[in-house]
Amino acid sequence: MKKTHRSLAALALAAGASLAQAQSAGQLNVVCSVQDEWCSLMSTTFTRSSGIKVNVLKRGSGEALAQLIAERANPKTDVWFGGTGDPHLQAAEQDLTVAYKSPSLPQLHPWAQAQAEQSGWRTVGVYSGPLGFAFNTELLAKKKLAAPKCWKDLLAPTLKGEVQVANPASSGTAYTMIATIVQLMGEDKAFEYLKGLHANVSQYTRSGTGPIKAAARGETTVSISFVHDAPGEQMQGFPIATATPCEGTGAEIGSMSIVKGARNLDNAKKFYEWALTPAAQQLGVAAKQFQLPSNKTTPLDSRIPDFRTIKFIHYDYAKYGQSAERKRLIERWEREVNSLPR
Ligand code: F6P
Repeated sequence: MKKTHRSLAALALAAGASLAQAQSAGQLNVVCSVQDEWCSLMSTTFTRSSGIKVNVLKRGSGEALAQLIAERANPKTDVWFGGTGDPHLQAAEQDLTVAYKSPSLPQLHPWAQAQAEQSGWRTVGVYSGPLGFAFNTELLAKKKLAAPKCWKDLLAPTLKGEVQVANPASSGTAYTMIATIVQLMGEDKAFEYLKGLHANVSQYTRSGTGPIKAAARGETTVSISFVHDAPGEQMQGFPIATATPCEGTGAEIGSMSIVKGARNLDNAKKFYEWALTPAAQQLGVAAKQFQLPSNKTTPLDSRIPDFRTIKFIHYDYAKYGQSAERKRLIERWEREVNSLPR
């Protein structure tokens, strides 16, 4: 306890705030569904400017939704920051989050505003990123394998045991993959495809970024991942490259919501407003994460994927953000795909 107070005081004083200010500013509980470095940078930077102590809990998108459902009667979370948009829409539908219309909405890209509008203002887009493949270029060369360019390439028998993707129950990345393939191929063909893919998958990880980290470190050859997660691995010197599928792909609308019954509602709104500013949105790149920020005036790093060069499907965010649809698709995947031997 003492230690927490001391470090809070040190941070606040470093930013020119008085100790009294820091102690009266209170706290904020954030469930964070981006990578750890970004979560930490968001919390320390916000604390420095506001004096508000931030407690961060890292959770995958599906896990964060499960947590809000579990806490419904006695919410411990104030803000849910990041993670794919579909579970944020499900949280809105299930009345787990509150309507809040930010005055900054006009500064956001249309896709971020659309996310807010279709949730009845209970969530908002904070970033976007395309789904694709990542591969370890050294392993591909060593195994004399061609880099995958299309969804169909992932079914090649030569890739048996060489592909990793996350589990859609815990990971928004993996749910985005299922929803994308269903929209691209039609549901029955999509499930045939997912069964074929299953034969080549060595492991379904809990977290959406697990597979790209494994590919970067040579533990798997190919991953199905958001391509904006690759530059951070490249910066660490790993031989990783990406492609977006030739048939077309989906994009996430990473989102943010305020929890219904938040104990620190005023602080939640302060954090929310701050997270929509260009200054806060630049912290993604500072933490080596390269999603496209939702505020139109956030300066863009050249390593952020160029959306104009990618073939996108018309992703139906409203339909695939429905609780019943997500539950049905994940149950079908468990029953017809994950239960199959490999
Ligand atoms: O932080 C990286 C990231 O790819 C985000 O862009 C995305 O919203 C999140 O991970 C999804 O994580 P998960 O698949 O574990 O829910």
